[in-house]
Amino acid sequence: MAEKISFTINGQLQTVEVEPDMKLLDVIRDVLDLTGTKCGCDNATCGTCVVIVNGRAVKSCNTAISKVAGAEIVTVEGLANGMELHPVQKAISESGAVQCGFCTPGIVMELVAVLDQKPTASEQELTNALNKHLCRCTGYEPIRDGALIAQKLVQERVAEKN
Ligand code: FES
Ligand code: FES
Repeated sequence: MAEKISFTINGQLQTVEVEPDMKLLDVIRDVLDLTGTKCGCDNATCGTCVVIVNGRAVKSCNTAISKVAGAEIVTVEGLANGMELHPVQKAISESGAVQCGFCTPGIVMELVAVLDQKPTASEQELTNALNKHLCRCTGYEPIRDGALIAQKLVQERVAEKN
């Protein structure tokens, strides 16, 4: 039976009335029309559906909507500040890591979550995070380069704020 479930997404409080076992991914795309989050495999393998829930990167294709009641969710649509891209978006696009772009939102959200938690993450920690993501186009090298540039930009932003 459908239930009312409330959460915050990209800074806005939302209430949806859906079956509690509906996938977060389907709510994001089909109910809220936030189609930046992609569905690559629908079985928790590819990482294209990653969003941030309470500060952590989460695969939305294997998360039931009932599990995010009261949570703070961020999707790729919530990153830019007006026309100004988030540093991770900027770095990934400037490093040549975007070819077809299908994997990009998930990778960006993963890196934002990791770098928000730990701007000084080691290269190995960044690689471990990226290993959860499949990309059929780039050969991964530009994505790794982009992650390192992203880290630099995030660190600069943290330094500016302090
Ligand atoms: S669509 Fe969720 S991991 Fe592939
Ligand atoms: S850029 Fe095409 S799947 Fe990664």
